[in-house]
Amino acid sequence: MNNCQRTLVAIKPDGVQRRLIGQIIKRFEQRGFQLVGLKMLQVSEELLAQHYSSLHRKPFYPSLLRYMTSGPVVAMVWEGHNVVKSTRMLVGNTNPAEAATGTLRGDFSIHISRNIVHASDSAEVAQKEISLWFQRSELIDWECCDHGNIYHP
Ligand code: TYD
Repeated sequence: MNNCQRTLVAIKPDGVQRRLIGQIIKRFEQRGFQLVGLKMLQVSEELLAQHYSSLHRKPFYPSLLRYMTSGPVVAMVWEGHNVVKSTRMLVGNTNPAEAATGTLRGDFSIHISRNIVHASDSAEVAQKEISLWFQRSELIDWECCDHGNIYHP
């Protein structure tokens, strides 16, 4: 497979509270991407400080931290051809008001402060985020039986 990548996707506390876990996972599965890591966790402020290190000085950072620690998060690693960019498109614009209908944020959210899901924004960032959120032993290398129907062999 050309350009096989992995990306981090996290269902944020609002997505979990609103019982959207199944619907979000479904969209990745139906597209053909492969799940290689999955866990529910209460995220620590330390992890978030690293995850959002570029946003520390933003005015919304304190409320982002409160929101992201307000309840459990479901973290996943998805694998597939061009998965980083495809996932960003599937998730939609950061601001749900700008997110197209058919995207997760466009279909399930209204306000930027409650946009239900995180997705890595580049292949480089994805590698950093995956190693921040997951131990190597928590990721499973496996072959999906329908590989030949999703990709040219
Ligand atoms: P950012 O990394 O810019 O966007 P994305 O999640 O699409 O990669 O911002 C991280 C999160 O911070 C974003 O998902 C929601 C929150 N946020 C706000 O609450 N207010 C804002 O004005 C912005 C830009 C982001």
